[in-house]
Amino acid sequence: MSIAIALDGPAGAGKSSIARRAAKALGYIYVDTGALYRTIGLAAMRNGVEPVPSREVDALLAAIRVEMTFNEAGEQIVLLNGEDVSGEIRTPEASMMASKISAVPAVRAYLLDLQRDMAKTNNVIMDGRDIGTVVLPDAKVKIFLTASPEARAQRRYKELLEKGMDVNYDDILRDVAERDYNDTHREIAPLKPAEGSITVDTTALDFEQSVEAIINVIKENR
Ligand code: DC
Repeated sequence: MSIAIALDGPAGAGKSSIARRAAKALGYIYVDTGALYRTIGLAAMRNGVEPVPSREVDALLAAIRVEMTFNEAGEQIVLLNGEDVSGEIRTPEASMMASKISAVPAVRAYLLDLQRDMAKTNNVIMDGRDIGTVVLPDAKVKIFLTASPEARAQRRYKELLEKGMDVNYDDILRDVAERDYNDTHREIAPLKPAEGSITVDTTALDFEQSVEAIINVIKENR
């Protein structure tokens, strides 16, 4: 039997970098489900599907192929119709489109099996918004990882600056607030702590402390 760890929480709580490191330390596969929503968001952008939701999303889903694979270093790669789009899905525009498209029920249904299949055969830390509530409700450990909106905006700001992007803190804080609103207010699979989940707040923790907190919660509860 494989072990599944569900890790949910708002945008920018550091979930991906913390989970990636914790997964490595524990020998689990790190699965970033946001990348899948971003890939569909990118497909929508490329095909001019806007506004979202719209009926065009169904046609889009029928026309694309989304796959998740891992490179030799164990890093997740997402493929859109066979093309590696792992870098292109990381822009602020793709983030916003992912948030909008993730509210479309057909999109969530489209990605469900892909996510569940991954957890069937591997020990995973799966990072998302609805992993503990919808995708893997029977996960052995469910963690809700959060931090204040300001702390999350500050971290994302630093991250984008380091990537050489031309960004402004206030714009990022506004994006964080808008995405929080979208993610928590959508009708289907809204972001909320799963039943039986353990909340870890990283506002006052640095990266290493956050990794340690997550590893401890997993070791104590798996
Ligand atoms: O984690 P992220 O920022 O890469 O996620 C991108 C968007 O996808 C985010 O706005 C919420 C959505 N998402 C979701 O609805 N469900 C998931 N399991 C993962 C992400």
